[in-house]
Amino acid sequence: MTMNNSTSNRRIRIFDTTLRDGEQAPGASLYPEEKIRIARQLARMGVDTIEPGFPISSPGDFQAVQHISRELQGIEICGFARAVREDIDAAVQATQDAAFRRIHMFLSSSDIHLDFQLRKSRQQVVEMARSMVAYAKRFVDRVEFSPMDATRTGDEFLFEVLEAVIAEGATILNIPDTVGYALPEEYGAMFRRVRQSVRGGDTVEYSAHCHNDLGLAVANSLAAIAAGVTHVEVTVNGVGERAGNCSLEELVMAIETRKATMGVETGIVTGEVYNTSKMVSRIMGFPIAYNKPIVGRNAFQHEAGIHQDGLLKNRSTYEIMDPDKLGIPRSMIILGKHSGRHALKHRIGQFGVQLNAEELESVYTRFKEKADELKVVTDDQLMGLVGATVDGPSEPFTLTHVQAVSSSDRSRMASVAVRDNRSGIERVYSGTGEGPIEAIVNGLKQAVPMEVEFVDLELHSLAMGAKATGEAEVTIAVNGETFKNAGMDQDVLVAVAKAYMSACNQAARRFHTDSSVAVPGEPEASKHAAARESEQMRARV
Ligand code: KIV
Ligand code: ZN
Repeated sequence: MTMNNSTSNRRIRIFDTTLRDGEQAPGASLYPEEKIRIARQLARMGVDTIEPGFPISSPGDFQAVQHISRELQGIEICGFARAVREDIDAAVQATQDAAFRRIHMFLSSSDIHLDFQLRKSRQQVVEMARSMVAYAKRFVDRVEFSPMDATRTGDEFLFEVLEAVIAEGATILNIPDTVGYALPEEYGAMFRRVRQSVRGGDTVEYSAHCHNDLGLAVANSLAAIAAGVTHVEVTVNGVGERAGNCSLEELVMAIETRKATMGVETGIVTGEVYNTSKMVSRIMGFPIAYNKPIVGRNAFQHEAGIHQDGLLKNRSTYEIMDPDKLGIPRSMIILGKHSGRHALKHRIGQFGVQLNAEELESVYTRFKEKADELKVVTDDQLMGLVGATVDGPSEPFTLTHVQAVSSSDRSRMASVAVRDNRSGIERVYSGTGEGPIEAIVNGLKQAVPMEVEFVDLELHSLAMGAKATGEAEVTIAVNGETFKNAGMDQDVLVAVAKAYMSACNQAARRFHTDSSVAVPGEPEASKHAAARESEQMRARV
């Protein structure tokens, strides 16, 4: 790679196959309505092509591809097919109403697949590829051909197949690393050889499709880009068969962060990356690993004292990307046993409390004991420690009681008690919902004089066994700004209530909410937001 100072970067087209290859991940299957919701978000995020499914595989997939083709007219839609007429017919029909479309046809090319799976000779395979590309070309201009298991095929036969499909009019060659076997140098070199040696190789577009069995899918895709490839097939959160596919967010942010060096760019709206990741994780029921690059919970959090100190002085000391630009609610400093006095003082200062040196020392000593015991010290716990040192409670609202009642019908009830620390008044509120969490949140909403939108909830168990502590992380939005906070308790419902209250406290501090306007009963202004959120919560709770 060379340093590029020009402003005309080569445009890399992002082909999203979350709804086809991603959905092939065990346990990830999606209903058509879910595919449609995700496809809308993919379009909002600016992907160039969506592969929404495998139309021949089920009526639901056909319907989803057809609906998405009709609705998303600004984007290319791809119909997936084996190299057989029935598949091609279904893909052609399902994408009929798309404004822009392509057919993506695949056929195995490695001897392992030919011998053990297809039980066909090389000659038969070349003939199938040739005749089916010719067939697809009767209906569609843009035909993508994928020789499956290409990286274990060997040049001689790979070139023969590719020459045959180019001769019949294939316009895009997608050369997949189906089993995640290639190394980056090998994968890039393969594209160079194909372009140079295959007859017609300089007349078509190239696409990379990598699986992550060795954790190399992103590296291999970047190597393909360096070798001149212009389309990359990716999935959100890297979901897909086995260890998954090349992760959209990792590839896009590698390009975005290093575009000056690579000389390439994508059309992705990076501010939508986090939302999309969350949406796919929630709808597929696939949690995101804490340490997943870009979108994992720890991706922008810092615990080591020296890192926290650096960040407080300048973000770029330990961060190469700005989470704000990715739409990621920032809670960059995690207070734990590695945190230093500087970070502690800063966080306490965010609550409007200034400690002198002696007070800080006293809080710091007790903070360290707490951190040894709990690993992570939440804002609530920290302010509890500060409360013993500084006069008066510093949080606008304190949750004093939570009770949720289960029942066999679909309606749950909860009662919560909240003290408004500025007026000193404690009130009890009740809420209902389809699940206990919705009921608790609907109760708590009445206690806080702000229009609070419930954005996201993550639940984790912090240890194994029946005595495990549950941790809830709640993200809310107030006045277009997001706030995220955590709560812990052996009762997971109480953990959610604590996390929600802490996030509301953060927002209240940010906007200096006047507690005197708090009234019992659901605030009128928040009713429409509540309707929107209850749908989100039901999906999770
Ligand atoms: O991994 C693969 O080979 C595929 C193709 C069929 C493109 O998903
Ligand atoms: Zn694949």
